[in-house]
Amino acid sequence: MQVTLHQLQLFQVVARHLSYTRAAEELFLTQPTVSMQIKQLTKSIGLPLFEQIGKRLYLTDAGRELLVTCEEISKQLARFEMTVADLQGLKKGSLRLAVVTTAKYFVPRLLGPFCQRYPNIDVSLKVTNRGRVLERLSANSEDLYILASPPENFEAEAQPFLADALVVLAPGDHPLSHQRNIPLERIAREPFLMREVGSGTRQTVQRIFDKYNLQPNVKMQIGSSEAIKQAIAGGLGISILSHHVLALEGGTDKLAILDVVGFPIRRQWHVVYAKGKALSVVARTFLEYLFSEGQQIAERTSTPMPEQLYSYLLAAEGVE
Ligand code: PGA
Repeated sequence: MQVTLHQLQLFQVVARHLSYTRAAEELFLTQPTVSMQIKQLTKSIGLPLFEQIGKRLYLTDAGRELLVTCEEISKQLARFEMTVADLQGLKKGSLRLAVVTTAKYFVPRLLGPFCQRYPNIDVSLKVTNRGRVLERLSANSEDLYILASPPENFEAEAQPFLADALVVLAPGDHPLSHQRNIPLERIAREPFLMREVGSGTRQTVQRIFDKYNLQPNVKMQIGSSEAIKQAIAGGLGISILSHHVLALEGGTDKLAILDVVGFPIRRQWHVVYAKGKALSVVARTFLEYLFSEGQQIAERTSTPMPEQLYSYLLAAEGVE
């Protein structure tokens, strides 16, 4: 059977309109060209596909069967086209991410296995505070963004993929390190190391103190959670940070997690993109990877949690 894909596509349009003239208009062809192609198709199949009764065109039984077959072929072809695009995308695509600073403790470890799986993908990773990440989101600068809480004033898709917990960190030899159920009022009196304006951590910390009508005793403002952690170890004060900042620390005795009422505060890391954004194949693949393997890989690739933190996270009630 000498049937071409082009003839089948023409046939579908004629069958939809039941008119050679309208099919020709839709296809930007002349009416005789369409008729000629259908004639050749009919000849190859060996049965009439249309019958003309009066002025109207009808599909014959063979025509109806052919139409069903054509629809199946079209669907299969569309699926094949997507597969080809996917294969090309994963072969030489790029992935642009912007993440809040605290995410630098786990995002690079999540990227490791992903990049090994798709070695030809170029990844760019922008690490900055929440305020700047939100600016980049509204400027459509990257494919995906990673934040703790979803954006407040921007229409975005935000999906949780990894558990987080905020803890109160103090120097290892701090007098409160052996106390249980420390009230937040007591924490508010300690010298507090605060992140800079624009930081999501700062926003959350401020909300926690506001909720209890308290003000932290801010001793120093520091523009990085890593620097705050080092400052705590150096005895400059205490702070509230994501437990992820302890990622590779293991069982250090330089830092203590204080047992404060209402802590740890559990929350989720979200992967975010602008509503309506057409995600690339690579971005979609990374999203699926985060949802299916993110939590597991983050846990597997971090140093085992210090015993104290582990039991603390398990036991504490925590408030959102
Ligand atoms: P940050 O963000 O790095 O801006 O503090 C972390 C967070 O959103 O809690």
